Amino acid sequence: MRTTLRWLGRGSTVLILLVVAALATVYAMSEMRMRRTWQVEASVPPVPADAAAIARGEHLATIRGCRGCHAPDMGGATFIDSPPFAKLSGTNLTPGKGGVRLSDEALVRAIRHGVGSGGRSLLFMPSQEFAALSESDMGDLLAYLHSLSPVDRELPPNQVGPLGRLLFLAGKVPLLPAEVVDHATRPAQPQPGPTAAYGEYLAAACKGCHGPGLSGGHIPGTPPNWPDAANLTLDPTGLAAWSEVDLRRALREGVAPGGRALKADFMPVRETRHLSDDEIAALYAYFRSLPPRVRGSR
Ligand code: HEC
Ligand code: HEC
Repeated sequence: MRTTLRWLGRGSTVLILLVVAALATVYAMSEMRMRRTWQVEASVPPVPADAAAIARGEHLATIRGCRGCHAPDMGGATFIDSPPFAKLSGTNLTPGKGGVRLSDEALVRAIRHGVGSGGRSLLFMPSQEFAALSESDMGDLLAYLHSLSPVDRELPPNQVGPLGRLLFLAGKVPLLPAEVVDHATRPAQPQPGPTAAYGEYLAAACKGCHGPGLSGGHIPGTPPNWPDAANLTLDPTGLAAWSEVDLRRALREGVAPGGRALKADFMPVRETRHLSDDEIAALYAYFRSLPPRVRGSR
């Protein structure tokens, strides 16, 4: 009996040591990638200062999701608070207490390349969606950032827990944008209008959740109890039967055909409801131009 217990005791000690060793390895391997520094050239476009440019920059900050993660007043917000995974806040980008003051070059480097001051990759900031922003959109965004009123808000430090690090090493979570962005991406030169080409440009804001091929499915890095993103291709599991009016109603009011309410905690209708008629027409034309894909094939 005693020997059995002793062996069991030894067995669990070995098990604990193995777990500790595994955690230490995960920590060391992820830390090495997180500490890597990047040297990228960021070119600053002309920055206008007129009211129209600032208003357009604010519109972009809404429909591109900046105000979702950095708070509507851009004073920063904690948007993931699940310590085993991560605790992450969008930075306070205003000149208030707790805010960062960045040169235009540092702003462009962060937004397009995901590289922060000191050269390290930012954590979880989706710069891969912004790498191809046009020069004029980037200029308007900077005009809006310059116009922000001070917000005094101190945010907790960003941390990535063991589960977040493990998912990152397994390639399931795009934790380090600097690793994901193609730093040679040239700014797009889109012609705004209700065209599929302009819809493709706008849909960069949808692909983080709906997948690069827009077929929906599990959203990378979200807990298993999160709803799948919908299929936006013309497959029968997607938007095959949707008219442009249906899409407009879904994006503006969060209601799908048949009166089904979209889960607004997950599908950011508070952002998409600001899309203009032309922007929605462009997205619709783009979705119609995509090859139909089965739901979840990404
Ligand atoms: C999914 C959430 C998310 C979205 C969307 C997002 N950000 Fe961020 N952003 C973050 C996080 C988190 C950080 C802080 C990362 C860190 O400290 O490592 C950050 C950092 C930044 C920084 C760098 C601050 C610094 O200290 O260097 C800038 C600038 C920035 N974001 C601007 C923007 C703009 C502009 C947009 C929209 C075009 C945007 N962000 C969209 C999450 C987001
Ligand atoms: C933060 C993640 C996220 C982003 C960003 C996002 N979506 Fe969604 N979307 C979802 C989720 C999750 C659902 C499923 C909601 C539900 O089941 O009620 C959804 C559902 C939808 C639907 C309803 C389709 C159906 O069959 O019910 C449409 C249309 C849609 N999204 C369009 C868009 C467009 C267009 C964009 C970009 C401009 C976008 N979404 C950006 C997460 C997202």
